[in-house]
Amino acid sequence: MPVGIIGGTGFSEIPGFEPERQEVTTCFGAVPVFRGNLGGKEALFVPRHGADRRLAPHQIPYQANITALQSLDCTHILATNAVGAIREDIEPGHLVVPDQFLDFTTRRPLSLAEGLDEEIPHIDVTNPYCDYLRRLIAEQAWEMGLVIHQDVVYVCTEGPRFETPAEISMFAQLGGDVVGMTGVPEVVLAREAGICYASVGVATNYAAGLAGEALSADEVYELMDEVRPSLFELLREALSRIDPDTACSCRQ
Ligand code: HPA
Repeated sequence: MPVGIIGGTGFSEIPGFEPERQEVTTCFGAVPVFRGNLGGKEALFVPRHGADRRLAPHQIPYQANITALQSLDCTHILATNAVGAIREDIEPGHLVVPDQFLDFTTRRPLSLAEGLDEEIPHIDVTNPYCDYLRRLIAEQAWEMGLVIHQDVVYVCTEGPRFETPAEISMFAQLGGDVVGMTGVPEVVLAREAGICYASVGVATNYAAGLAGEALSADEVYELMDEVRPSLFELLREALSRIDPDTACSCRQ
């Protein structure tokens, strides 16, 4: 069974991965999927922002991406996200593996059933991210000597603008640890599709108002450039360790 990788900002290709491109048609539209071998496993790579990296967070075809992976019998997804750190001890360059999210998106599809004549899926998201995959990612990061924070609450905003300091202060009071623009609804749709899903976030900056300077997209890209080699290795090794037969409640 293939493993999916959804690559976020700064992660639109994987070195050493020589995939075949395939256009996968779904009822939500067609998406490019890159199929090849990674870490000794069959991998399906989806660049979240599109093959030409042009899609803004609110334009990403979240439903089509997950449906395409589901139609290719993908059982597990490892995703990457750039995030701003709300907590001071999460420093730029650190990794996070969220276990909860707060959804502040406003105009995105909410379900794979949306627009289709299907039963409304009131899915349970008590544990929205796959614990098994989260543990694999954390263990791999420890082995590589990387700093990774677990039990992190990911706040998802609509973007594409960054947040105001007042918003960040509110998110902090609500228990948010990091903020990004692309984690939701992806995690929810993966659960609807019965696919184990976890994301590794890269803290690229302190969130708005915390560093005392204006934010720029360039600092996000620059930090991603620095972290990218270890992120590639982390994902390749974590992927090679996935045992598809591990029992997991995500797929029930
Ligand atoms: N806010 C939202 N998304 C982000 C940030 C941020 O500060 N950094 C990287 N992605």
